[in-house]
Amino acid sequence: MAKIRVGLIGVGGIARLHAQGYKDNPTGELYAVCDVDESLVRERAQEWGAQQAYTDYRQLLADPKVDAVEVITPHHLHAPIGIAALEAGKHVSMQKPMAMNVTECDALIEAARRSGKLFRVFENFRYCAPMVRAKELLDSGAIGEPLSIRIKFIQGSMGKGWKVPYSRWAWRFDEAQSGGGRIMFDAGFHYFGTAMWFLGEVEKVYSWITYRPIRPELANRGVSLIRGVEHVVGAAGARKEEVAAPDEWLIDSPAVVIWKYKNAEKYGTFEVVTSYDIFVRSKYTPEDEWVEITGSRGFIWVNRNTSHLLDRPPVVMYRDGVTTEFSDMEADWGASFVAGVHDFTDAIVQGRQPALTGEEGRGVIQFCQAAQLSAKEGREVRPEEIR
Ligand SMILES: NC(=O)c1ccc[n+]([C@@H]2O[C@H](COP(=O)([O-])OP(=O)(O)OC[C@H]3O[C@@H](n4cnc5c(N)ncnc54)[C@H](O)[C@@H]3O)[C@@H](O)[C@H]2O)c1
Repeated sequence: MAKIRVGLIGVGGIARLHAQGYKDNPTGELYAVCDVDESLVRERAQEWGAQQAYTDYRQLLADPKVDAVEVITPHHLHAPIGIAALEAGKHVSMQKPMAMNVTECDALIEAARRSGKLFRVFENFRYCAPMVRAKELLDSGAIGEPLSIRIKFIQGSMGKGWKVPYSRWAWRFDEAQSGGGRIMFDAGFHYFGTAMWFLGEVEKVYSWITYRPIRPELANRGVSLIRGVEHVVGAAGARKEEVAAPDEWLIDSPAVVIWKYKNAEKYGTFEVVTSYDIFVRSKYTPEDEWVEITGSRGFIWVNRNTSHLLDRPPVVMYRDGVTTEFSDMEADWGASFVAGVHDFTDAIVQGRQPALTGEEGRGVIQFCQAAQLSAKEGREVRPEEIR
C-alpha cells in the first residue's frame, strides 16, 4: 500500500523531532517541506530526503502528490494555513496550541467538517510514555477514584542542549504572533491539556501570574538562547548574530493556577517557577515538569517528560502500603514526537480520529485563556466565558 505523502509546513526548531517520525514509518513518507527561510528549507529537504522544497505554503498545498500536512509554524499562522490545507483537500496535523483564540478554533473545526479530512491537534504529551503509562494506570483503577492533580513546571538553565536562535524567541514574545503567554499559552497548552486528559472538564479557574522582563537574569548568565553569539549556518555560509532580549519581553512566571473540575469536588493546581540557578539536565530545553495524581487509594507520580531533571523512575505508584516503580518504557521526550507522527499517518490509513480532536483543542485553549483572564481580572473564570 502506498504511504501517505506528508508535507511539513514550518521546518524550524521542533520540526526536527517531527522529521524523526518519518524515518521508520510504515504508513507515512516525508515528501515535501516548506518554510519562508529559503536556505533552511533547502538544507532540511536535503537532510531529511524530502522530494520537494517550497517557500510558499500555497505551492505545497497545490501539489497534488501531498496527501497530508503538518503545520509547525508560529501560532498566528495555524488557522490560516490549516484552513487553506483542509480546503485544498489535505489531512491536517496542527501543532499546539491549536490556534490563537476560540474563533479561529471554530473556523478550523468547521473547515475540517466541510472537507471531510482528518484534523488533529498535535500535543506530544499525549504520546510521552510516562504520561501514557500514568493514564493507563489511572483508567485501570490502580489508585482508585482520581481525586486531584498537581502539575509543577520548572524553567532553569543548562550547559548543553538546543541552542535557540533569536528568531525563534522573537515571535514567541510578540503577542500578535504567539497569542501571548510563553508559559500560560505556548507551554501551558500541554499542562492544561494534560490536566483535562487525566481528570476531565474544568468548571472554574483562578490564578496569580507574575509578568517580568526576562532580560536581566538571562543576560547575567550569558544564556545563549537570548544573549550571546548564535552560529547560524545557511546556504550563504556561517554567520554570527549578536542578540539581546528587548525589555518588553515578559515571562509569565512565577505563577499558580488552581481549578475545580466539573460536577465533582476535585481540584487541580499548576505551579510555575523560573530560576536560572536550577540546573536542568536536558537534551532539549532547560524546562521540565512533574505530575502528582492523588486517587482514593494512592498516588501516581510522573517524574520524567521534557527533560531529565530528577533522577527518579519515570513513573512511581503508591497503593496499599506498597510503592511500585515503572522504568520499562522509552522515556525520552523525542520519542513522543515519533509516536505522535506515526499515530497521524496510521490514523489516516485506518480512517480513525487520533488525539486531540478540534473540539478538545478548543477546550484546552479556553482553559489556558481562562487562567490568563483570571490573573488579569482577579476573579474566578469559567472556561466557557472564553469565546
Ligand atoms: N512540545 C511541543 O510539542 C512543541 C515544542 C516546541 C514548539 N512547538 C510548537 O511548534 C510550532 C513551531 O515552533 P518552533 O519552536 O519550531 O518555532 P521556530 O520559530 O523554530 O520554527 C517555525 C518555522 O516556521 C517558519 N515559518 C514562519 N512563517 C512561515 C510561513 N508563512 N510559511 C512557512 N513557514 C513559516 C519559520 O521560518 C520557522 O522556520 C509552534 O506551534 C510551537 O508552539 C511545540
